[in-house]
Amino acid sequence: MFNKLSLKTGLLFFIFILIIESLLFFILYATLANDRVDSVMDNLLTRGNSHSAVLEDYYDETTIEHVARMEIASEYSVVITNGNGDIINSSNPVDQEMKDIMENMNDEAVVHKGEIIEGQWKQEKYIASNSPIIINENTAGHVFMFADTNSVKKLVGQLSNQFVFIFMITIVLTLITTFILSRFITLPLIRLKGATEQLSKGKRVELFTERRDELGELAKSIAELSNELEYLKTARNEFLGSISHELRTPLTYMKGYADIINRQDLPSDEIKEYTAIIREETEHLTKLIKNLFELAKMDHNKFSIVRKQIQFRGLIESIAHRINPVFAEKGITFSYQCPDDIFVNIDPDRFEQVLINVLDNALKYSSEGGSVYLDVHKSGKNTEITVSDQGDGIPEKDIPFLFDRLYRVEKSRSRNSGGTGLGLAISKEIVESHGGTIQLSSKPGKGTTVFIKLPLE
Ligand SMILES: Nc1ncnc2c1ncn2[C@@H]1O[C@H](COP(=O)(O)OP(=O)(O)OP(=O)(O)O)[C@@H](O)[C@H]1O
Ligand SMILES: [Mg+2]
Repeated sequence: MFNKLSLKTGLLFFIFILIIESLLFFILYATLANDRVDSVMDNLLTRGNSHSAVLEDYYDETTIEHVARMEIASEYSVVITNGNGDIINSSNPVDQEMKDIMENMNDEAVVHKGEIIEGQWKQEKYIASNSPIIINENTAGHVFMFADTNSVKKLVGQLSNQFVFIFMITIVLTLITTFILSRFITLPLIRLKGATEQLSKGKRVELFTERRDELGELAKSIAELSNELEYLKTARNEFLGSISHELRTPLTYMKGYADIINRQDLPSDEIKEYTAIIREETEHLTKLIKNLFELAKMDHNKFSIVRKQIQFRGLIESIAHRINPVFAEKGITFSYQCPDDIFVNIDPDRFEQVLINVLDNALKYSSEGGSVYLDVHKSGKNTEITVSDQGDGIPEKDIPFLFDRLYRVEKSRSRNSGGTGLGLAISKEIVESHGGTIQLSSKPGKGTTVFIKLPLE
């Protein structure tokens, strides 16, 4: 039932609240206790003062007697002394502690309105006040009032009992609140933890949450991650399936032709033909493996783009120079248009690879007499590059998958042209790592256009 996280947060929360509560309780207790003690002392002094005031008016035997008798029934004791300090009357028997207090008081310091002469209620047996009786500016005696500190202690003791009781209740309430709160906070976290554990075991997780806070967002991200992972898993399986197929086909061809050549009675021109096929297949395999390797590097971010500020026209011219002979050989015209003032900060080698891939497609999937046109222009903050051909075109249903790895429209058709189905996937990786986009539109029978957008900065 208890888990580490809720225990930890709960404990932490509890300790903090406990410290705060204890502090507040202590302050409250100290103030209340002091108030009670103060009120006892005030009471003592007021009574003493009122007695001394009466005695100042009527300083005679009967009044003194009367004052002493008044305090017999009260919780205090009164002691009245004359000007020499001799006790002349008292409400209760005078014990040694009382005498000590009376002897130790500093007569000079006692002001006319009286004062507390013993306030140490914790240590002493009595707290006491002294109100002098002043007649004609002479001290005619003193009214000492005494309160047994036991009663004060009892009062404060009652207060502490009440406090302990309330404090216990508070602790229980705090514990319950802490428990509920920590469960409330940590329960979803624990569910998320369970979900990620499932994820790491390769299972798909569904996380439904109504929460709209950070935890809800976290749950949503984990659910998205799970979907993404699921997608990647299927993609990887499909990819591995296609790779093994792609590798097996040329190998089957090669083995087949090698077997034929092995037969003794084969004419030499046939041997030549078959070795040429084996050679072709080997080249195809080499290209396939090289491309796959390239893509694998991109996946692990191991390939770096080395940007250089270049004039775009220069790049196009050098590409045109290289591909013109191949286009001419197939009877396809290649033309281009590019302003002089376009300068871009790109990796020229990588970008050349992109353009060659796209132009190679245009060449491969066009027939004799066709033409391919490359156009470069600035558009806002982008450089736009379009390559259009009048070739076979691509059926609409295939277009969304063209940038997937190993995807080819007509396996047999592009096999004949030596395609591996990786060219556009590689191009897309490169363009996107430059912060750009690549798209393709096509009409079967009419031709294909590839759009590349590249930010100028
Ligand atoms: N300009 C185009 N005209 C017609 N079809 C095209 C064109 N460009 C691409 N395609 C289709 O898209 C598929 C994927 O192209 P991609 O460049 O990725 O692979 P490929 O050309 O077959 O092989 P690779 O480029 O690796 O040698 C091609 O097989 C082809 O069917
Ligand atoms: Mg290609």
